[in-house]
Amino acid sequence: MPMQRVLDSYRKSIFSLSLVAGSLAALAVFLPAGAFSQSPKSAILDIDLQKPTHKVSPTLYGLMTEEINYSYDGGLYAELVRNRVFRDQTFTNEKRDPAHWTLVQRGEARASMTVEKGSGPSAALTESLKLSVEKANAASPAGVENEGYWGIPLRADTTYRGSFYAKTDDASLGPLTVSLVNDNSGMVAAKASVPALSADWKQYKVEFKTGPIRTSSENHLVLSVQHPGTLRLDLISLFPPTYNDRPNGNRIDLMEKMAAMKPAFLRFPGGNYLEGEHIPQRFDWKQTIGPLVDRPTHPSPWRYHSSDGMGLLEFLEWCEDLHMQPLLAVYAGYSLAQDRVAPGPDLDPYVQDALDEIEYVTGGADTHWGAERVKDGHRTAFSLTYVEIGNEDQFDRSGSYDDRFTQFYDAIKKKYPDLQLIATTKVTSRRPDLVDDHFYRSAEAFFNDTHHYDATDRNGPKIFVGEWATREGTPTPNFGAALGDAAWMTGMERNSDIVVMASYAPLFVNVNPGGMQWSSDLIGYDVLTSYGSPSYYAQVMFSNYIGDEVTESTLQGAGPRVFYSVTYSKARSTFFLKLVNASSNAQPLTIRLHGAAEVSKSGKLISLSAHTPEETNTISAPTRIKPVQTALHDLAATFQYTLPAYSIQVIEGSVK
Ligand code: AHR
Repeated sequence: MPMQRVLDSYRKSIFSLSLVAGSLAALAVFLPAGAFSQSPKSAILDIDLQKPTHKVSPTLYGLMTEEINYSYDGGLYAELVRNRVFRDQTFTNEKRDPAHWTLVQRGEARASMTVEKGSGPSAALTESLKLSVEKANAASPAGVENEGYWGIPLRADTTYRGSFYAKTDDASLGPLTVSLVNDNSGMVAAKASVPALSADWKQYKVEFKTGPIRTSSENHLVLSVQHPGTLRLDLISLFPPTYNDRPNGNRIDLMEKMAAMKPAFLRFPGGNYLEGEHIPQRFDWKQTIGPLVDRPTHPSPWRYHSSDGMGLLEFLEWCEDLHMQPLLAVYAGYSLAQDRVAPGPDLDPYVQDALDEIEYVTGGADTHWGAERVKDGHRTAFSLTYVEIGNEDQFDRSGSYDDRFTQFYDAIKKKYPDLQLIATTKVTSRRPDLVDDHFYRSAEAFFNDTHHYDATDRNGPKIFVGEWATREGTPTPNFGAALGDAAWMTGMERNSDIVVMASYAPLFVNVNPGGMQWSSDLIGYDVLTSYGSPSYYAQVMFSNYIGDEVTESTLQGAGPRVFYSVTYSKARSTFFLKLVNASSNAQPLTIRLHGAAEVSKSGKLISLSAHTPEETNTISAPTRIKPVQTALHDLAATFQYTLPAYSIQVIEGSVK
């Protein structure tokens, strides 16, 4: 897609500019740091626990998500069958066999397959796979196999749930067998059969249980028959156990990794994924609800097809499972290829779509869209506070956002006056409740800008840092990036009266070749296992160890790459001191705690560190860098502490 390439190269050039700027800045700060490296001076950190400067925003740390890097399909969404409705338009050969599917012709069998238009199980799915079996018998079955998302993971003694839509014109076709087969041995790990297919489209369900097999991702799914005949197949699905056992649910390991981040909110559905390359490819929420067979699926702007198995209700249930509040982004009439809907009557249907969407989320069973949600299986309404209007509308070169925002703002505020509305860029015609700022930068650029929000007007809109990341390391960020992130987070925490929400992006990447569209992503995985990057662990630490107020503090005499933030919880009589040392030298500190009658000697130290900024975690070394907790025994009103080189640390202590 040419426009996508233009956007990518534009972003790349912005990123390289920021790297160059970062390097120049590095040069500027490096000389004193070099001098400092020869004689590290002790710095003095004064903290006054009796002097809160402001409350910490309880919603500060959240998640941002979209379909990118195989985040849902081939990622969080636990479906194991790839291209289950045959709409992935990349073909594997000249015969245009559907991607990720292969014809099976064992022994003497002869068959052919094709994706046929005009025959599908629903109005949404109007094409299906036609399998014509000319010759087959028990010793020579014919069928199709699916390779999954870089393999199909199988574990011992585990139940898998399969389903598919099918029909046949040949009553003599006989049973259809579904098997899970090892790629290397050809051994069948589990299989189930459907006795006969009907002449009309019908859904069939099978359940398998594996035996004592070795855990592996080198497996595939086979659907086969043992008699000649023609059959049509669609929506072929296979699920392993899911988080909270939800049907059509999420991968357990990834949900657990997110749960450990204690996120306060989830911004969804994007990002560029909300906008789409063109208007018809936006996240059209009404096409993502209800039974899977009624979801037409759509091409995502990240160059692959989205199954829409992760639809609006699934996003909301994900929030429910992780106790996060939804931050709903609504399509606002602008798509990436500079397609836009003119403000005024043309935009009205899109505004109505957003109102309907809010009703689907929050409405009772007595409302039209609330009743649809109930029909889809979720009786209770979700609570919603934040709605974002669009995404990155500063890229709309026509400058229409101000007017589009106004139209959405007025309609939403009229019906839902309590909702907090987020603008994606500066607007002047209305005062948004929040503005969403995005930062993709080098570590150096973040080191140099930790005071970014110190002087922001406290009477203006609040700030949502809806996408941010240090982009160093690929596919997942390295420790140097985690240092940039941690430095930046100290600044957000210190300013969390105005920066009320922040979410790192992107969240996920499938690390298989071809899985990544955006380098530097928080959590990496293949189909079997997952790992957190050093940046992930920095997020876990910042979000887990936090008080409810920022206290007055000063740091004097520290090196230029030392950053900190201190928060205090009066209710728990606990302080949390976050320290970041991005230099190659240890930093001695004298820490003076004022305003406490007594400081308990014992405390906790949580430490994330590495030998070099390049050091990182990978799918094969998933926890090379991870937080280590130790007990502290020498805390006092004044204590000495040496902050190691290349480290991110939290000191948790209690006072009376
Ligand atoms: O996070 C990746 C992309 O960066 C998002 O889709 C978009 O909003 C931003 O440009």
